[in-house]
Amino acid sequence: MSNESLANLLKEERRFAPPAELAAAANVTAEAYEQAKADRLGFWAEQARRLSWETAPTETLDWSNPPFAKWFADGKLNVAYNCVDRHVENGNGDRVAIHFEGEPGDTRSITYAELQREVSKAANALIELGVETGDRVAIYLPMIPEAVIAMLACARIGAPHSLVFGGFSADALATRIHDADARVVITADGGYRRGKPSALKPAVDEALTRPGTENVRSVLVVRRTGQEDVAWTEGRDVWWHEIVERQSEAHTPEAFDAEHPLFILYTSGTTGKPKGILHTTGGYLTQVSYTHHAVFDLKPETDVFWCTADVGWVTGHSYIVYGPLSNGATEVLYEGTPDTPHQGRWWEIVQKYGVTILYTAPTAIRACMKWGDDIPAKFDLSSLRVLGSVGEPINPEAWVWYRKHIGADRTPVVDTWWQTETGGIMISPLPGVTETKPGSAQVALPGIAATVVDDDANEVPDGSGGYLVLTEPWPSMLRTIWGDDQRYLDTYWSRFENRYFAGDGAKKDEDGDIWLLGRVDDVMLVSGHNISTTEVESALVSHPKVAEAAVVGATDPQTTQAICAFVILRGGVDAEDAGLVEELRAHVGKQLGPIAKPKRILPVAELPKTRSGKIMRRLLRDVAENRTLGDVTTLTDSSVMDLIQAKLPAAG
Ligand code: WT7
Repeated sequence: MSNESLANLLKEERRFAPPAELAAAANVTAEAYEQAKADRLGFWAEQARRLSWETAPTETLDWSNPPFAKWFADGKLNVAYNCVDRHVENGNGDRVAIHFEGEPGDTRSITYAELQREVSKAANALIELGVETGDRVAIYLPMIPEAVIAMLACARIGAPHSLVFGGFSADALATRIHDADARVVITADGGYRRGKPSALKPAVDEALTRPGTENVRSVLVVRRTGQEDVAWTEGRDVWWHEIVERQSEAHTPEAFDAEHPLFILYTSGTTGKPKGILHTTGGYLTQVSYTHHAVFDLKPETDVFWCTADVGWVTGHSYIVYGPLSNGATEVLYEGTPDTPHQGRWWEIVQKYGVTILYTAPTAIRACMKWGDDIPAKFDLSSLRVLGSVGEPINPEAWVWYRKHIGADRTPVVDTWWQTETGGIMISPLPGVTETKPGSAQVALPGIAATVVDDDANEVPDGSGGYLVLTEPWPSMLRTIWGDDQRYLDTYWSRFENRYFAGDGAKKDEDGDIWLLGRVDDVMLVSGHNISTTEVESALVSHPKVAEAAVVGATDPQTTQAICAFVILRGGVDAEDAGLVEELRAHVGKQLGPIAKPKRILPVAELPKTRSGKIMRRLLRDVAENRTLGDVTTLTDSSVMDLIQAKLPAAG
């Protein structure tokens, strides 16, 4: 990537000041940046004091063996105690922790006092099953309260959990069980998905026939759907309700070292075997707790928080479980899909529980845009006061739509950049401080050091693009890749000396604010110019006829790569309209400049997405270059690719 790279093309001039009322009462003000700048480690030591430690740490950061960090290493604490018991002890036992909404409409509200009893019983059950401190427990569950309870029970006894998203196959589960050498698997008979029960236990049974999974001695099974004929292996399988219900409601949490492993979570990435990202206890909890408090301005007495992610992703770990519960929040947990049984389901939930803070992903926002403005308009969304986005760059059009149609043109939108590896939010506006810019994550949070560098690791000037790097260690950073320190070094710390390489392209605007431009692998080289797929996608989505777009660079004899765009049109737009493609090309040319005009634009009905909602550009590149498709097993729906290929004229 050259220095003028990642063409600083997109000009987004809209600005939104924080609402005065929110700013006046905000949890975190501009002072926090000053304070952290003056004394970064002192700042984090202070945030650590937001938690309850059995032994308070005297040491903040040990960076004597970089990049292997230790934070608060001489402190001891229990994560479950911090997320549950202390709120009960502080007189908030009757506060609802979780409003659970099952997809079929069943509901359950769990107070902190109840959560304490449930987590204690589950911890006692794991102990009865022989789980010891340090043993890994695989969790393969739908979005039900038992998923949260199981995670907290593991944390309570110091058994690192490894969640495997319920949509993953037996193969993916087996690989992860094997890599972490899990001793117990917690699963369910099934869950509800798109209006029907969908079985989970058969995938566990299949996974446990694979080599490398022999050390699993127990499978704990939650009865969720009750409809499946559940195959049973005597001596290994145990019903959750049988073993957990008969346990004592009392369990004394033991404090663990701040660097005790809390969980392993696998990220697939584009190549190679999944990486087991290891997170530990004190630093992780400090950062997720602080960022949840700061970025969402959470007021535990009055707010109702809702993060729509699955607990199987890091967003669910940090902002359904550990961040909100450590802050004593009341939150919503929803099992199902946004369009079951109707496309207003999410907004119905916001109205029903009076959700005040909503945290979701651009892919979901674009789906809602596609379904139409009239759907959220049917519900009372006036309780909302902060909206968050995470997972991929949010196109300015989607950002503005989110603010306008969900946030009544009133709520701040915080675009939060982070990764499984970073554990918690790193770059984001603060809702009471930052004047927001649609499409930009803008500024590193207090205590976080991020910048953009060129190929030679030089910081780029404002107005230029390059690679996003993190220049100082942070409390919730991954500690290593489970069992593979060398891969940790190679993947994150070898591209630039002493800097964490995030793998994302980014640019700094004239104010020095950061704009994320997608994975570096997704940047295109067109006639000597580096052009970001994200910017071309945003330009396409800013056209009133386009709901969603995915852009790839296809090998081209004249221009090195040629821009190829796949677009989903908004409802009512005729895909066969002869002038449409030219109209869209002209629009992109006008927005970004002629160099960024896609050579080809193909209207499609769906885009290939991973189960966490990211567009799989690799597969679209295969299509655009007329290649046989690569691995499609992580797609939500692999038939999408047949539809897209059918659209394509025979030769590229
Ligand atoms: C990658 C990390 C962070 C939890 C969910 C994803 C992309 C994430 C943003 C954002 C632009 C973003 C990056 C990052 N990403 N948030 N606000 N703006 N890009 O976790 O699966 O580990 O993915 O997601 O490319 O590197 P993940």
